Amino acid sequence: MNQSDVILTGIKPTGSPHIGNYAGAIRPALNLARRSPESSAMYFLADFHALTLVKDPALFRDRCHELAATWIACGLDPDRQVFYRQSDVPEVFELSWVLSCSTSKGLMNRAHAYKAHVDQNTRSGDRDPDAGVNMGVYSYPILMAADILLFQAKYVPVGKDQEQHIEIARDIAARFNRCYGEVFTLPLYMASPSSAEIPGTDGRKMSKAYNNTIPLFGSRETLRRAIFGIKTDSSAPGAPKDPDASLVFQIFRQFADRQRTETMRDRLQQGLISWKEAKEELYVLIDGLLDRPRAMYDELMSDRSHIDRVLEAGAGRARELARPTMEKVRQAVGR
Ligand code: TRP
Repeated sequence: MNQSDVILTGIKPTGSPHIGNYAGAIRPALNLARRSPESSAMYFLADFHALTLVKDPALFRDRCHELAATWIACGLDPDRQVFYRQSDVPEVFELSWVLSCSTSKGLMNRAHAYKAHVDQNTRSGDRDPDAGVNMGVYSYPILMAADILLFQAKYVPVGKDQEQHIEIARDIAARFNRCYGEVFTLPLYMASPSSAEIPGTDGRKMSKAYNNTIPLFGSRETLRRAIFGIKTDSSAPGAPKDPDASLVFQIFRQFADRQRTETMRDRLQQGLISWKEAKEELYVLIDGLLDRPRAMYDELMSDRSHIDRVLEAGAGRARELARPTMEKVRQAVGR
């Protein structure tokens, strides 16, 4: 990684942030910036991406503020890193259009998220394979390419489920460069070593869609209830338990240090701890880790105009950084 390499990542404000978002996306992205302070790190709220899904304006606004407060409460420093809201940077949408004019429709047909819709429609016997697919869903990867290419980002740390989108962004950039000359840095997918996929309370991937999340910044009571709702097998309190087959343990190990993790493993294996006690420990662990961030989160959420100001300041910097690329793009296409 070079001094001037840009690292960029964004999250969509589609649901209240949960500990899966934290361990899978927020924590690894912030660690990366911490470990490589010489490169410029950019973080943004992919707010207009969420419009494909969220149709309620008040909810949309809430989700954006929640996500912004979450990033900052988890350690993002808006003075040191560029932190902005996508929709405050109109150049993104301008670039998105220009890119869509040299992107083949076939490339979008192959995007996983769109294909999943089509497959589901086909399977359910729907005669229209595109039923329920808006154009935002269809051209999502182009907007995402614009997010990345506008800032000449080299590394994009995202979850595995986003890998194809980064490859598409790379294809789009390469095609544009072939046609108009070297304008864009080709971005790379970056699998973060510390990124973890946290199972939800029912064992599937933790996701709002499955209603199996453990919220990051709810009340203590909500946190407790979610943790006590984690599925366990029916082992008796004193029976030996298999830690690796246990959701409680899989979540525990993402937040505990090595020693605490090993102690928990031993106690489960030897039947020295009941599921109820293990959940209580998990609760105490997570609650303790969230104590300070929660206070900060609550403070931020109590003054949303402050959040807006922070985001606007970030967008000012982002637009500065975008300007040279946009000038090149316009010149390249003959404007
Ligand atoms: N598609 C990403 C997700 O759903 C969010 C996103 C939008 C993004 N634009 C991006 C991530 C650019 C990294 C870079 O999680």
